[in-house]
Amino acid sequence: MPDRYAVFGNPIAHSKSPRIHALFAAQTGEDISYEAILAPLDGFAAAVHAFAAAGGKGANVTVPFKEEAFRLATTLTPRAQAAGAVNTLSFAEDAILGDNTDGAGLVRDLQANLGFDLAGRRILLLGAGGAARGVMLPLLEAGPASLVIANRTEEKAFRLALEFAGKADILPEGCGFAALAGREFDLVINATSTGLSDIALPLPPRLFAPRALAYEMVYGRETPFMKTAREQGARVADGLGMLVEQAAESFRLWRGVRPATAPVLAALKG
Ligand code: ATR
Repeated sequence: MPDRYAVFGNPIAHSKSPRIHALFAAQTGEDISYEAILAPLDGFAAAVHAFAAAGGKGANVTVPFKEEAFRLATTLTPRAQAAGAVNTLSFAEDAILGDNTDGAGLVRDLQANLGFDLAGRRILLLGAGGAARGVMLPLLEAGPASLVIANRTEEKAFRLALEFAGKADILPEGCGFAALAGREFDLVINATSTGLSDIALPLPPRLFAPRALAYEMVYGRETPFMKTAREQGARVADGLGMLVEQAAESFRLWRGVRPATAPVLAALKG
C-alpha cells in the first residue's frame, strides 16, 4: 500500500495539487497516493482526524481552512507560527505537526524560477490578510532593502507591519493605498483577494521601477493587477510557480527528497 496524502479544501474539485504530487512521486520514485478531499465548512477537523486515523501520513490545507489547521496542529514550525496559518500537516503517533510552505514557495519561485534576487530590493506587498501574513517572514529573511505593506484598511497594514518589527534587519512599513503616490518599487506582490475577482486596486501611476516585477499570487487568469502592471511596463508573473514550489517543499518535508520543479511547472503550463 502506498503512503496516503491528501489536500483538504472547500471548494477543492479544481485543485492542481493531486496532479503536482503525482508528478513528484513519479519523478522521485516515491510510493505515495494523493487525493483531494472536500471538507464540509463546519467539519474540517473531523475530516482531518478521520483521514489520519485511516492511516493518512500528511495533508495539505487550502482555502478556507489554513487558520483552522493552525489551531488543529499540536506542534508548529516557526514559519507556521509567524504565518498564523498552516498549509502542511504531518501526522505522527499522537502529534500533528503544522508547517507553512507558502512563503518559502513564493521566495523560491521569485529567486530560482524567475531569477529575481530579493536582496536589496524595494518590495511592496498589497493586502494585509492571511495570504500576506503567510509570506511576510520568508520575504523579510530574503534581505530586501525595504518592505511596505499597503492595504485598503490602513489599520490592518500598520498592525501587520508592527507584528513583524524586530524579526529582520529592516522594519516593515504599513500604509493605505493613497500613501503609495510618488513611490516606486522593484517588486509588487498582490496578496489581496481581488486576484479572484475583476476588481482593480487603486494603484498610482509609476508604481513600478524600471525592470520591476509584478507578482500575482493567484493563477489561471489575467487579473486587473496584472493588466495594470503590464500597462506600467512591469514584467508580470502569476502564482502558478508558487503553487508548485510550496508543493515541492511539502513533499520534501514528508518524504525527505526534493523533487525538481521545472518539469512539473512546464507540464502544468503545457
Ligand atoms: P486572504 O486569506 O486571501 O488574504 P483575507 O484574510 O480575507 O483573505 O484578506 C483579504 C485581503 O484582500 C485583505 O487585505 C483585504 O483588504 P481589507 O483588509 O481592507 O479588507 C483585501 N481586499 C479584499 N477585497 C478588496 C478590494 N475590493 N479592494 C482592496 N482590497 C481588498
